[in-house]
Amino acid sequence: MASSPKADETGFQLKGSAPERYEEYSAPIMAPFVEAILDAVDLCPGHQVLDLASGTGFVARAAAAQVGPTGHVAAADVNEAMLKIAAARAPRMYPDIEFTLAPADRLPYADDTFDAVLCQQGVQFFPDLRVALGEASRVLRPGGRFAATAWAAWDRNPYFAAQHRALTEYGNREAETQFETAFSCPAERLTAVLTEAGFHEVVSRDVTFGITLPSLADSARGHLSAMPWGQAIEDAGGPDALTQAAETVTETLTDHTNPDGTATVPFTSTLVTAVR
Ligand SMILES: C[S@@+](CC[C@H](N)C(=O)[O-])C[C@H]1O[C@@H](n2cnc3c(N)ncnc32)[C@H](O)[C@@H]1O
Repeated sequence: MASSPKADETGFQLKGSAPERYEEYSAPIMAPFVEAILDAVDLCPGHQVLDLASGTGFVARAAAAQVGPTGHVAAADVNEAMLKIAAARAPRMYPDIEFTLAPADRLPYADDTFDAVLCQQGVQFFPDLRVALGEASRVLRPGGRFAATAWAAWDRNPYFAAQHRALTEYGNREAETQFETAFSCPAERLTAVLTEAGFHEVVSRDVTFGITLPSLADSARGHLSAMPWGQAIEDAGGPDALTQAAETVTETLTDHTNPDGTATVPFTSTLVTAVR
């Protein structure tokens, strides 16, 4: 993997074993959005695809299955620990996914390389969105498609509203800043910056899925511990503070909890699409 700036230059840094938990506990939340973002770009066998801010690789793996043995998937992220999990989880099938440690604003790919650039829950963390989307445009071939998702405001997402409530009880300024960053990229900003970057057919819409999470008693803590704001709670108050914060999440979601302890919660994200 090529050398790159440190993960702590980004707004979403995970350390220790958090990337492993990210992969486990984020999977059910991300799954329907992976389908939505892939549907938005109409991948075909043979396509060249970039998963930008790939994290542990949910989108890259699904894209690889769609482009098949004649295609190619590249995955770039600035966090080496996330990429390690991604590489370990990538199925050994054609096409192999090419994982690269690289920041969104300095992509190590030639001009006009990709048929599609996908970015799931990454745009809100880029230090300079204009430069990053300019890079996405540069590496796309003319006519290539771009799609990104970013969470709608936390108060429109009951699960994240519950995490926010836990933060107000157990968090600190650092945790709040980390949290706010994840919900800081509204549709209007994305569409404006994509248009400025020269993209055409820039369209945004909200997508909402009702997602059933495994037993909240376990997953609320596991998921929180895999978020930067959960890590900040734990760093400041220790494991007990994290446990108490997770209990607040569980209690706040009582209305969404099923008799078997699972919870079915609506999640809403902005999906923006554009053509280079
Ligand atoms: C919420 S995670 C999303 C990961 C993945 N796309 C997914 O669907 O699960 C945000 C990711 O953005 C990455 N990231 C943040 N800033 C970045 C940057 N400037 N360049 C590349 N990746 C970045 C983080 O390292 C992290 O893996």
